[in-house]
Amino acid sequence: MAGQQGENSGGDIVQGTAHQKPLHGDGAAAGADDAANNAAAAALDPTTLPASLQHLSLSARTVHADDYLNSHQSVAPPMHVSTTFRYNRDPDLLAPWLNINTNNPHDSHVYSRDSAPNTTRLEAVLTSILGGSALTYSSGLASFHALLAFLNPRRVAIGEGYHGCHGVLKLMARLTGLTIVDLDCPDSVLGPGDLIHVETPLNPTGEARDLEHYAAKARRSGAYLSVDATFAPPPLLDPFRWGADVVMHSGTKYFGGHSDLLCGVLAVAPRHAFGGGGGDGEGEGESKGSGSGKGEDKTKGWIPRLRDERLVLGSVMGSFEGWLGVRSLRTLELRVRRQSADAEKLVRWLADGVAAAAAGSTSDPSSPPSTTSIAGRVVASVQHASLQAEASEADSWLRRQMPQGYGAVFSMLCRDEQMARRLPSKLHLFHHATSLGGVESLVEWRAMTDRSVDRRLLRVSVGVEGWEDLRDDLLQGFGALLAERADRAKLSGSDVGGSQQVMM
Ligand SMILES: Cc1ncc(COP(=O)(O)O)c(C=O)c1O
Repeated sequence: MAGQQGENSGGDIVQGTAHQKPLHGDGAAAGADDAANNAAAAALDPTTLPASLQHLSLSARTVHADDYLNSHQSVAPPMHVSTTFRYNRDPDLLAPWLNINTNNPHDSHVYSRDSAPNTTRLEAVLTSILGGSALTYSSGLASFHALLAFLNPRRVAIGEGYHGCHGVLKLMARLTGLTIVDLDCPDSVLGPGDLIHVETPLNPTGEARDLEHYAAKARRSGAYLSVDATFAPPPLLDPFRWGADVVMHSGTKYFGGHSDLLCGVLAVAPRHAFGGGGGDGEGEGESKGSGSGKGEDKTKGWIPRLRDERLVLGSVMGSFEGWLGVRSLRTLELRVRRQSADAEKLVRWLADGVAAAAAGSTSDPSSPPSTTSIAGRVVASVQHASLQAEASEADSWLRRQMPQGYGAVFSMLCRDEQMARRLPSKLHLFHHATSLGGVESLVEWRAMTDRSVDRRLLRVSVGVEGWEDLRDDLLQGFGALLAERADRAKLSGSDVGGSQQVMM
C-alpha cells in the first residue's frame, strides 16, 4: 500500500480530510497547471469522506490512512518542526491562504497555527478511524472549549463525568450566559441549537451511558448531541452510529497511549462537516472567512468554520506531539483491545473478591481468607461498564453499543479513606498518577485531583502489562496494606477487626 504513494501521487487512497484547503472554486491556485489543479481539486473534494479505506481493518487504517501524505521515501513519518512554510516564488501563483506544495498538494501549509505536516497526518488517520472529519487541539479541554465557542449553545445538558469539562462550562457560562442543565432534564427545557453532552464511559467509574437514548432526546428538542468518547476509542465505540453530531476525545489518553502527549480531538458527523456555504464568507484579518456569510445553513460546514476558529483561538497541537500521535495511533487497536480485555478480567476478579468477602463475613471467621476474598477485605465495591446489569442482558443497549469491550478504566471504592490513600504506595506495577490510557497501568487516589468524588475512590487505568501480573500486584498490595494495618493496630493495642478504621 505504501508503494502506491509515489511522490506527487497523493489522494488515490483517502479523499477528503479535515485539513484540506479548498482548492476548488474561488480562483484557487490561479495560474497553476490546470491538469494538476483539476486532479488535486478532485482528490481534495472535502465533501467526500475517506470512504475508500472503510473496507480495511481498524489497524490497517491506523497504519496507512496517512500514506497519501507521504512525500518522502521514509517509511516512518518524518518529523517537521517548522512553524512557517515558504510561499511560491512565482508571484502569479500567490493567493491568500493558498500555498500549494507542488510536491504533494495534500501537504500544503502556510503557518502552523493553521496546519502543519505532523498534525495533518494525525488528522488524516483520526478522520479515517473515527468516521467523521477530525480536527486536533492542544488538549481535550481545548477541544471542548472550541466546540462550545463554535456552537455557542444557550443551554448545555450534562451529567456526571470529567470535572474539567464542567470547569470549561462554568467559564463559558460566565462569558456567554449559557445555562447548564441536567442531562436528564425534561425535553421541554432544551431547544434548537442547544447541546446535550454525554460522556461515555464515565470518568472516573468507567460506567457507560445509552447514546441512542440521548440522540433521540436531542432530535426531539432540536439540540445537538456531543459525545466525549475518551474512555472508549475505536474499536470500542462509534458514537456516530448511535446518533452523535460531534465526537470529542482527550487524545492525551488512548490516542497518545504512552503518557507523553496532550491532544484533543473533535470529529464531526458527515452530515455537518462540509457544505452549507462554508468557504463563501468574507474573512477579516487572519480569518479565512469560511462560512461566515449571511443566510448560511448552520447545520453544515462545521469543519472549515471550526478550523477558522481554531486559527484565531490558537489551540493547535504542537508539531512534536502531532508526530508522537501518528506514531502512537499505529498500535491503537492492539493496545485498546488488550487493555480493555485485561481490565474486564481484573474487574471480574475484584468483584468476585468483594462477593467472597461478603459471603466470608457470614461464614466461619476462623477459616483463613482465600486469595480472592483478600481483595474484598480492602475493596467494598467495583464500578465498570462490564458490571452494569445490561452487560449480561443479550441485545441490551450496552451490548449493542460496546460489542468489542467495555474499556480499560474502572474504579474501586475502598472500605475506608485510609485504604484508598495508602494502597497505591504498596503497588509495584501500577504507578500512582493521574490520567489514563497509557501502556503503563495507573492507579489514582482520585481525591488528589477531583474534589467532587468519594474520598474512598481509587481509579484504575489498565495498561498492557498483562492481567495476571496486575492481579498479582494488587494481591500483594492488598496483603501489604492489611499487614501494615494489623501491625499498627497491634502497636496501638486496638482490635484489627476486618474493616475497622485505624488511622495509618
Ligand atoms: C473524559 C475526559 N474528557 C476530557 C478530558 C480532558 O482531556 P485533556 O487532559 O487532554 O485536556 C479528560 C482528562 O482526563 C477526560 O478524562
